[in-house]
Amino acid sequence: MMIAQAVIKARLATQDEVNACFKTQAELARKGEYVTLKDILVQEGICTRNQVERSMKHDVLEDSMTRSARHIPGYHIISKLGQGAMATVWKARQLSLDRIVAIKILPKRLSENPEFVERFYKEGKAAAKLNSPNIVQAIDVGDAQGYHYFVMEYVEGKTVYDDLSKGRVYSEAEALDVIIQVAKALAHAHGKGLIHRDVKPKNIMITKENVVKLADMGLARAKDDKETAAQEAGRAYGTPYYISPEQIRGELDIDFRADIYSLGATFYHMVTGRVPFDGASPSAVMHKHLKELLLPPDHINTSLSAGVAEIIEIMMTKNRNSRYASTEDLLQDLQAVTRGEPPLQARRRVDPKLLKNIADMEKRAVKQAEDAAAEAANSDTVMQISTAEQTKWTIMILLAVMLALSWIFIIYLLHK
Ligand SMILES: Nc1ncnc2c1ncn2[C@@H]1O[C@H](COP(=O)(O)OP(=O)(O)OP(=O)(O)O)[C@@H](O)[C@H]1O
Ligand SMILES: [Mg+2]
Repeated sequence: MMIAQAVIKARLATQDEVNACFKTQAELARKGEYVTLKDILVQEGICTRNQVERSMKHDVLEDSMTRSARHIPGYHIISKLGQGAMATVWKARQLSLDRIVAIKILPKRLSENPEFVERFYKEGKAAAKLNSPNIVQAIDVGDAQGYHYFVMEYVEGKTVYDDLSKGRVYSEAEALDVIIQVAKALAHAHGKGLIHRDVKPKNIMITKENVVKLADMGLARAKDDKETAAQEAGRAYGTPYYISPEQIRGELDIDFRADIYSLGATFYHMVTGRVPFDGASPSAVMHKHLKELLLPPDHINTSLSAGVAEIIEIMMTKNRNSRYASTEDLLQDLQAVTRGEPPLQARRRVDPKLLKNIADMEKRAVKQAEDAAAEAANSDTVMQISTAEQTKWTIMILLAVMLALSWIFIIYLLHK
């Protein structure tokens, strides 16, 4: 509980008085003067320093992260929005622009890793260049008291995870609406060379107006090596229900197709009510992503259209070469099935290996046919030859027989 809520709760100040203090604070911030709310409350004579401190005693979360959150210059922390496996997200007021933002504060162990910090700033910069209504806008990055923080657009709404955790199964049309908006966000980011790497229901937010926003775009992740992936599986990533096989293998050249796989796994969960692969431990789940055949989504939800089932299966193909060749292709198919048309890109997409196999098979078949024809032609000639030979021999035998008969007849006449 922060100062504002604490003093209101203790009836030391009204909401209006606190709002007036916020205004004063914002005005001062615009002049480059950062004053805490507590100081303003005291200066304005609303309460004494002791009263403020007493009111907060029982309510304030005094963990070190909260303390650091309250010391981010230029921002006033209002309340805690949520806690992920890796970080805490706070609702805050950006004093200079007098607007509400969300601030994600990373844990110390990541802030102390120089390689991670370098990536954190690099990706933060790249994310700040993105501009899409479907991406939670990155606003600022920085560090305060040894903690790195990421300031972003505040989204009022729920996450897809909130729905799924209540056991909600999305209708095909509802899921398509959400997935198309995320695909648009991804197409925009991928076009600028940015990969999300952690697409999942918890990172998809939906506003009251049904605008979908992809969160954590441009937030650097812990390194994608196999060991870290396995190590962090239960901790930083949560159970890896949506992670791509190549990320599990710790491949280094992760590209947009990893995001397509994760979005496919999210889509699968939304329309079937089940994660694609479940297991008793993170490593059991990861093993299934690598090895186990996917139960087609329309086998679980038989009301799914063939087109949607086909799209999900292509998105979740284990070999990324067989997934969509681009996020734009995926988007085209999602829009086509929404219109009730077939997913043409999915049908056009055939594994290059399979294409080669088909070509080889065709070549072999043609060759076999040619060989058979040639063999047939050859055997005809042999037959023709042998028939002519047979006739010749028959005539010769007949002639010999006739000659022998005429000799017998002559001898008979001479003896007579
Ligand atoms: N921009 C935002 N606006 C409003 N709320 C947000 C915003 N970003 C995150 N949140 C809230 O904070 C929570 C924690 O977010 P965070 O990204 O730390 O973890 P997560 O995505 O939920 O899970 P995980 O740590 O497993 O990735 C989210 O579930 C969401 O409710
Ligand atoms: Mg998140």
